[in-house]
Amino acid sequence: NGNRDNSRGALIVLEGLDRSGKTSQSTRLLSYLEQQGFSVESWRFPDRSTCVGEMISSYLANKSQLDDRTIHLLFSANRWEKRSLMEMKLRSGTTLLVDRYSYSGVAFSSAKGLDVEWCKGPEMGLLAPDLVLYLNIPPEKAAERGGYGGERYEQLEFQRKVAQHYKMLCDATWKIIDASLPMEDVEKQLREFVMDCIATCQIGKPLSQLWL
Ligand code: TYD
Repeated sequence: NGNRDNSRGALIVLEGLDRSGKTSQSTRLLSYLEQQGFSVESWRFPDRSTCVGEMISSYLANKSQLDDRTIHLLFSANRWEKRSLMEMKLRSGTTLLVDRYSYSGVAFSSAKGLDVEWCKGPEMGLLAPDLVLYLNIPPEKAAERGGYGGERYEQLEFQRKVAQHYKMLCDATWKIIDASLPMEDVEKQLREFVMDCIATCQIGKPLSQLWL
């Protein structure tokens, strides 16, 4: 697919609770889109490979303690440090499948009791996704799936709160998918939404910014 006029790649975000299946589904989507001949990359936040990402990783592993607002701003900074690369990729026609984004940032921090509007602040001006695929699963069911790992947020009670806060962020770019269905059914639905979205971006849907 050539790069005529405003044609660009799509910014597609996967969101959901821990163990909702985001990572497996984004791997499957990536290989499906590659097979179809699209230029596509799989990204994730936090991006643990940067300096900021290392601080986040150590916090999540309970190896360091940080004030709630401090860690919130680090998660946000971790997205800001990728913003220009993200824009460049999209404009050059590459579709990005992103595992977690600003919605995780706001849902997890506000679930700790921080004000939602305060949490949204540092996300303003990041690129707005063209599509948010929310893998919806009851927290109890997610917890049953092979159990949580040992990271900081992987506890049922907290995940329940995160689920409530996610629901408040739902807007017109969201598609809510029942993630307790068999993996193949979830995959089929995701493919349809993604193909539609890529098509609208190819014909030149403008890029926009988050929460301004
Ligand atoms: P992730 O690396 O996706 O988890 P996993 O190790 O299970 O693959 O995300 C790590 C945790 O960080 C997850 O519990 C969600 C949380 N998180 C935030 O609190 N804020 C954010 O901005 C992001 C991107 C994630």
